[in-house]
Amino acid sequence: MMLSSPFLWYLALLISLYLSGTLALQQRVGYGYRLTALEESTLDGGWLVGHLKVKQSTSTYGLDIPNLRLFVKHENQKRLRVHITDADNPRWEVPYNLLPRAPPPPPTKSPKTLSPFSLSSYPGSEFIFTFNPDPFSFAVTRKSNGESLFNTSNFDFVFKDQYIKISSQLPETASLYGFGENTQPGGIRLRPNDPYTLYTTDTSAFNLNTDLYGSHPVYMDLRNSGGKVSTHGVLLLNSNGMDVFYTGMSLTYKIIGGVLDFYFFSGPGPLDVVDQYTALIGRPAPMPYWALGFHQCRWGYKSLSVVQGVVEGYKKANIPLDVIWNDDDHMDASKDFTLDPINYPRPKLLKFLNQIHSRGMKYVVLIDPGIAVNPSYGVYQRGIAKDVFVKLDGQPYLAQVWPGPVYFPDFLNPNGVSWWVDEISRFHQFVPVDGLWIDMNEVSNFCTGKCVIPTTRQCPDRKAIKPSVCCLDCKNVTSTRWDDPPYKINAAGKKALLGFKTIATSATHYGGVLEYNAHSLYGFSEAIATHKALLGLNGKRPFILSRSTFVGSGSYAAHWTGDNKGTWEDLRYSISTILNFGLFGMPMVGSDICGFYPAPTEELCNRWIQLGAFYPFSRDHSNFASPRQELYQWNSVAKSARSALGLRYKLLPYLYTLLYEAHLTGAPLARPVFFSFPEFTPSYGLSTQFLLGPGVMVSPVLDRGATTVKAMFPPGTWYNLFHMTKVVVSKDASFLTLDAPLNEINVHVYQGTVLPMQRGGLISKEARQTPFTLVIAFPYGTSGAEAKGKVYIDDDERPKMALVEGEATYVEFVANVKGKTVTVTSNVQMGSFSLSKGLMIEKMSVLGVQGKSKDLVITVDGIVLDSTSIYFSHLGEVQEEIKGGSMKGMLVEVGGLQLPLGKSFSMSWRMDGM
Ligand SMILES: *[C@@H]1O[C@H](CO)[C@@H](O)[C@H](O)[C@H]1NC(C)=O
Ligand SMILES: *[C@@H]1O[C@H](CO)[C@@H](O)[C@H](O)[C@H]1NC(C)=O
Repeated sequence: MMLSSPFLWYLALLISLYLSGTLALQQRVGYGYRLTALEESTLDGGWLVGHLKVKQSTSTYGLDIPNLRLFVKHENQKRLRVHITDADNPRWEVPYNLLPRAPPPPPTKSPKTLSPFSLSSYPGSEFIFTFNPDPFSFAVTRKSNGESLFNTSNFDFVFKDQYIKISSQLPETASLYGFGENTQPGGIRLRPNDPYTLYTTDTSAFNLNTDLYGSHPVYMDLRNSGGKVSTHGVLLLNSNGMDVFYTGMSLTYKIIGGVLDFYFFSGPGPLDVVDQYTALIGRPAPMPYWALGFHQCRWGYKSLSVVQGVVEGYKKANIPLDVIWNDDDHMDASKDFTLDPINYPRPKLLKFLNQIHSRGMKYVVLIDPGIAVNPSYGVYQRGIAKDVFVKLDGQPYLAQVWPGPVYFPDFLNPNGVSWWVDEISRFHQFVPVDGLWIDMNEVSNFCTGKCVIPTTRQCPDRKAIKPSVCCLDCKNVTSTRWDDPPYKINAAGKKALLGFKTIATSATHYGGVLEYNAHSLYGFSEAIATHKALLGLNGKRPFILSRSTFVGSGSYAAHWTGDNKGTWEDLRYSISTILNFGLFGMPMVGSDICGFYPAPTEELCNRWIQLGAFYPFSRDHSNFASPRQELYQWNSVAKSARSALGLRYKLLPYLYTLLYEAHLTGAPLARPVFFSFPEFTPSYGLSTQFLLGPGVMVSPVLDRGATTVKAMFPPGTWYNLFHMTKVVVSKDASFLTLDAPLNEINVHVYQGTVLPMQRGGLISKEARQTPFTLVIAFPYGTSGAEAKGKVYIDDDERPKMALVEGEATYVEFVANVKGKTVTVTSNVQMGSFSLSKGLMIEKMSVLGVQGKSKDLVITVDGIVLDSTSIYFSHLGEVQEEIKGGSMKGMLVEVGGLQLPLGKSFSMSWRMDGM
């Protein structure tokens, strides 16, 4: 619009002057810092130290810290660390004993000081660190292509005791993933302007875009500029509450304490990033084989006979079940480490455990951190004697959870850890459980503030309709700057008191550590202590499921996504959260199958078990307030469960091998599609499908009433694992419509894969002893095509997951087609373990080859075998699922094999034209 009249022009001028005036008046929170001196050290690989001075202090959110110390180190080829803290006073950091890493070196006595202007960049590793002295800002670029990955210039940099703000520019080509725990309705890719608040809270998973049980201040950034793809990761290692703002063009952190401790991981592939990340924070924990089996739980198994009935129900319905769980129903009045003498009498429970253990099944129970305040309760007595509880004003901090009034153990206190280890050991003598579920550890409290036990009424009121309503007499604690900090993070979407329904943030841990700082570490420290306890019992590999998690929790525990709802939306959201936990170094993760509450419809539960059968951690769990939802409760669900879990149990050797790889390299079991296909841009936001390992695609139905599913496949050949003669040949990014009748889920294996499978079974212990089939998927019609796979097996009772002679076997398979000759070979490392178990390969299913098979030659350990008992079955043409395709290829089975898995073999045959 043209301003035609001088009057309008004058008005516009007035308005703009007014606006700029108000902007100028708006108080700035900080004026940034100036770099005054630099020191460079060549010790220990070299580092850079910078001295920063505040330019001008303000009082908003407290005074600025006058002097900061910048520490920069290329810790290895792939990792850069940038650490900024108060130069004059120590500040809170994630404890170095909880998350082991190198502390920044102390100030040197007589440093070699450089002028701040003598240097403007500090290269090393695959990154270059560059900086501006005044106002201080820094940038991180990728050395190989000069791309700027992180750049804090043009933004305020503020560093106060309780308010730290730093931002980075981002290009439009960046796709970001991470920052949790958060249920993201928009899927895995971060959506501009969605809130990301990190602070552990007992907030149910069905709450969207809010801080949930865990805190993971890490993201992965995928850049695709003109087809050139690279990814990197950024961790801000800080346990204080923070808000993260992502606008699409920038990222801003507002943190209420601690230090800036950035780690940059250079990638360049997504798997490289998780490898580099878990090399720092700890590799994912080894898990026992049975943890990959199916788990059934419910809050509301009122007595042992109900639990027995559930185990029987699964057996009768022929649905696999490895692990039966108790929520708190087995406890005496919700007290940890006890049994309800009426409903879970110990002699009967022990008899039941004997029975299920002899079949190879396992039993896991819940424990909460809150210890009932009850002078006649031994756990409490010993805790008081050892002085293990979190304190406020010198007294144990009083809270309320299921047992009523409780104290919270302090897992930062070495006495707290040894007391906990001892209590678990006592409990294990009492009830030989196979794993522990640590719940409510954000930590959850039904009350807020400073509380006392009321003298005028019963607390807890055992007849209360809602036992989760606070019955203590409480006062909000707002008197300290820890309870009521100047900047309020958007915790639980409420900007509530930080101590809202948790420990008051002015409470203290061992050594005077403030709850304000250590809050989000509660579940992490509990998992470490619990892991130590389980390892000490009988030397078996621990299994722990934890609700609250932090950076590093994956080295100790598995995770489930917490309280979800039995809705179609929650079914869909579960995928994003599970994929996120893979990025967080916690690949053993799942959601409550069929929803925690309210009741799912039969159709929803049916679709949920089809998806849930392919969660890394697969457990059905529900709340007492909704009807029973074990998979055998409905015929249609049972049918789908037999089919989907049936495939899972056949795939167990593949999944267990993925667990091994996760433990070695952090590679998640469930992965976003872009992990294997980073050039395939349409997959960047894909959150309705995922990969298990490098090449198994799961495409679940997520919509009510649907009998087809729209699925996207990166180009190539994808074979349906339920119907191996059905194939998708994808050429581009279009969504294909696949049949998905009520009892079927689409699971496909990608060309180039050798998939180790077994016969399956109802319990993993049996399934893992059955003979193997190798599924060999060639791309259609390419001579010279190759397929690869591997399998790792071990004795899962041992704590370590490692390749040791006699304790584990690792086999790589390579198959190829050259001209008319098909060759399959294996390369065995440490075969003796497999040989001692008598494991055999009985069959190969070869996909995508053409012609009639003949002239088989087979050698084992170099010796030619008599192959007369071996036969080929030509099971027919592979059919393209999508009309119009003209795929020609066979499913050929090579049967009658008796190849010891533990011996290297070589096999070849010819395919004659048909
Ligand atoms: C950082 O951003 C500033 C301002 O946009 C720019 O001038 C500078 O070149 C950038 N630094 C790097 C290393 O990209
Ligand atoms: C305590 O604080 C909470 C959250 O800020 C508030 O909802 C509640 O009303 C307060 N209670 C009292 C007794 O002041």
